[in-house]
This record gives sequence, C-alpha cells and structure tokens, in this order.
Amino acid sequence: TPRTVPQVARTTEEFGPLREKLGRLALVPTMGALHRGHRRLITEAREQADSVVVSIFVNPLQFGPGEDYDRYPRDLDADLESCADEGVDAVFAPSAEVMYPGEQIVTVNPGPMGRVLEGEFRPGFFDGVLTVVAKLFHLVRPDIAVFGQKDAQQLALVRRMVRDLCMPVSVVAVPTERDADGLATSSRNAYLDPRERQSALALSQALLAGADASVTGPVGILSAARSVLDRAAVADPPLVVDYLALVDPQTFTEVPGDYRGEAVLAVAARVGGTRLIDNVPLTL
Ligand code: PAJ
Repeated sequence: TPRTVPQVARTTEEFGPLREKLGRLALVPTMGALHRGHRRLITEAREQADSVVVSIFVNPLQFGPGEDYDRYPRDLDADLESCADEGVDAVFAPSAEVMYPGEQIVTVNPGPMGRVLEGEFRPGFFDGVLTVVAKLFHLVRPDIAVFGQKDAQQLALVRRMVRDLCMPVSVVAVPTERDADGLATSSRNAYLDPRERQSALALSQALLAGADASVTGPVGILSAARSVLDRAAVADPPLVVDYLALVDPQTFTEVPGDYRGEAVLAVAARVGGTRLIDNVPLTL
C-alpha cells in the first residue's frame, strides 16, 4: 500500500474541514519527539477507529518554573515521518498562540488525585495536563482517545475527568513500551548520557523487584523495590528518588498493608538534570 502522508493542521480553521472526513476518530495526544511508545498508541488507535489523529503540542501550561519547557525536544519533520510510517490520517500541531490566544483563566481542577505523587512534586502539572486535554477533545472531537500506562496517574486523571465532566470520549490505555534494557521509552531519555542511563535503569529494576515480591504484600513489595533504589542512590551518577509508592490504580491513594486487588507500583527519580517516572501494574 502506498505510504499516505498525513494532513497537517496548524490551526482550528484548518482542522475543522478535515474532521468531517474522518468518521469514527481516535485521537493520540502527544508532545511530539515521537518514539516507540507513541507508535504503540497509534497502532492501538488504528485498530479501534476508522481514522487516527495525532496531536503534537508541547503544552506550556503543564511545565513549572525551572522545568524543561525550553529544552524539550521538538522535531516536527521527524514526527511527521513517524506519523506517515504509522498511517496516521491527520496531525494537529497547533502553536501556543492557537491553543492559548489569551490568558487561560478557566482551568480544569484535578482535585485531590492531582495533588499527590506527580502532583506533589510538580504543582499545577495536572491542572495543565487536564486543561489541554479538555481543549484538545473539544477541538478535535474524537470518539476515542488513547493514553499510555507509562503515565499512570495522568491516565487515571483523564479517565476521572471524562467521567466527572461527562465528556463523550472513550479512553483507551496502552501498556508501557520499554527498551531492551528495561528503560521505559520516553522523549526525555534523549537527555541521558550513557552513565546517567545506566543509573536510570534502577527505576525499572526496582519495579521488577517489587513485582517479583508481589506475593509478600505491600510491605514486601515496597522494601524489595526500595533496596534497588537505595543501591542506585550511591551509584555514580546517583539516582535521587522523589517517591516510591504502591497505590490504588483509580484513586492513586496508597494502599493499606493488608491490601488485596489491583495496584500500581510507581516511582519517580532524578539523575543528573533529568527527571524520570515509571510504574508497573500489579495484582496483589
Ligand atoms: P507525551 O509525554 O508526549 O506522551 C504522549 C502519550 O504517550 C501519553 O499518553 C503517554 O502515556 C504515552 N507514552 C509515553 N511513553 C510511553 C511508553 N514508553 N509506553 C507507552 N506509552 C507511552 O503525556 C503527554 O505527552 C502530555 O501530558 C499530553 C497528554 C500530550 C498532554 O499535554
């Protein structure tokens, strides 16, 4: 089959006429710098709908002061190539002026789930994420939206927003894509030098150790994961852990010591100037 180059819309005026032709539509929201994880989302989107739109927008509203908004990798041409390879029908790549023509005064409040774990270390992050996702839903009008398990708290919050604000979108989740060494693929991995990457492997190794200790319950899981992170804390360069937590997948509250059921073991850590997150779903 011939390689179809996706249509690119930079404004809502350009996207409107495209939308009419797309039928049952799946949206894959991204910030670009597309990697295998994003491509897996696109593959799932194609299976679930007639057509696929990828949005590419580095959302200033979800970056805090001192975070990596300015240096976040941007390569629209490479991203359009990836989208063409994956048979994406259209790419919505708005500018900041299109998405935020004036000050964003009304925002989506993520509630208590937005203030724990990632929300504690990145104040305002989930307000920014949910606000832009809500705007993208309104502009693109997808029937389905595809998100990665890699960002498990984001996934849970998007599901909750859709439910609490009655958004007519079905949310589909896709498992985390990893490199052969276990590191979850991420646009931010591009920041890591080889030694930093070696230290960063402790994230996925800690989650694996926790998963292997599943039968021992929450306390055993956390201590198995923690001992891997403790070793990485004295490696060179060191891993600096923001949090390690075993949480309920829907609410992201920490589970009690006698918990049985579905859980997510989540970790966030910094190595050099790079902050990384990872998680693994577990059944206790
Ligand atoms: P971004 O980090 O570009 O991720 C876009 C989507 O790809 C998210 O749903 C994320 O969970 C998924 N993803 C990233 N790495 C993955 C991996 N290794 N395996 C599976 N899925 C992966 O997340 C965002 O952008 C933004 O917050 C956004 C939702 C676009 C709002 O601005």
